[in-house]
Amino acid sequence: MKKIGVAILGLGVVGGGTYQILEKHREFYQKTQNVDIEVVSVLEMNRARTESLGVPEEKIAANIAEVVCNPDVNVIVECIGGTAAAKEYTLAALNVGRTVVTSNKELYAKYSHELERAAQRHNAGLFFEASCVGGVPIIRTLLDGLQGNRISSLMGIINGTTNYILTKMTCAGMSYEAALAEAKKLGYAEADPSSDVEGFDAAYKLSILSSLAFHTKVPFSKVFREGITNVSEEDILDGKQLGYVLKLLAIGKNTDAGIEVRVHPTFVRADHPLASVSDGFNAVFVEGDSVGEVMLYGRGAGSLPTGSAIVSDIIYAATHTEIRYSTFKNGEEAEKDVNFVEDFMSAYYLRLSVSDEPGVLAKIASVLGKYHVSIVEMIQREKGDGKASIVLVTHATHEFAIKNAVEKINSTEIANVESVLRVVS
Ligand code: HSE
Repeated sequence: MKKIGVAILGLGVVGGGTYQILEKHREFYQKTQNVDIEVVSVLEMNRARTESLGVPEEKIAANIAEVVCNPDVNVIVECIGGTAAAKEYTLAALNVGRTVVTSNKELYAKYSHELERAAQRHNAGLFFEASCVGGVPIIRTLLDGLQGNRISSLMGIINGTTNYILTKMTCAGMSYEAALAEAKKLGYAEADPSSDVEGFDAAYKLSILSSLAFHTKVPFSKVFREGITNVSEEDILDGKQLGYVLKLLAIGKNTDAGIEVRVHPTFVRADHPLASVSDGFNAVFVEGDSVGEVMLYGRGAGSLPTGSAIVSDIIYAATHTEIRYSTFKNGEEAEKDVNFVEDFMSAYYLRLSVSDEPGVLAKIASVLGKYHVSIVEMIQREKGDGKASIVLVTHATHEFAIKNAVEKINSTEIANVESVLRVVS
């Protein structure tokens, strides 16, 4: 039976989950995969972690050199996070021909070109299923399951922390601050939640997924990004009244005009399948020319779900002799002839604060009309003191048209646009 020695760098949430799965299922993989996978080394300085997982003392390495030079180590699992030590250690492993499995989306989104080149040069495997959408096998689906298709779009909820926060704001009427505090208490959000709530985490993932789906490098810098920090309870309630639910969506499209990649809070109709993806769950829609729409749903984060993705990569590496790399070119920049669409089309939700007096609505409609923005529906709410809120949803229009129209409205005395949110109908 083939024997595979695994080293795990970092035994935090994901590394710890991976360790537990490999320990629990060693015999199961012997039977089902005909491979004996053993954790032979871990790099973790925190003794409380190694003790709580029951890692034998002799398996704890003192430094990265000890891990990469260990002849019993075939696969190195990088669960350190960040891009400093993680990049150095990953390159050290690839440069001596060790296969690396990583869950690190920031590392992969920013440095896949460098890592893949090192892997190719040294005939090492490099796998990253766990970098996107935790336990949901979206990367294998794009690489193996849907490779017969030209993929025109992918759209989904690919960050659990923000989905948890927005779910609590929508379903429990919590403020952003209270929902974030609860997300921290439950371990969804980190002490510094900025990567999740500012949309970076989802943008790293979208850069990786759209590169795979569209077979070209989609650099992280090309992803339009807006987080959820400015989302208000008022918008969530107004959206609800109009039949919408607010989600942080990642959207990638490959059209004749070019590639469009964006992460932003988005209203989806309450009967849209993504509207019912709640709490820490994730879901991704992929649209292929032959298969039509495929939706994957599951846990996008957490110890065992993300460990599940890592272990699937280890088994893949252990049971396939042919080494596979992602299918996009390993350049740092986008290819010169690929166009990225900035002035994308979307429907919009606008919330305006207005003086409640005759002619105001007509003036707003007139400015929108000048920019070819057409209104689908509208509600008005009295706010007292002669003020009112006007909430409207537009037909699909250009992002730049909305920006210009909002700027124009705000430059007059007519009204103040307090919120602009995109809508998927
Ligand atoms: N922080 C991420 C999330 C999980 O909340 O979905 C790891 O990417």
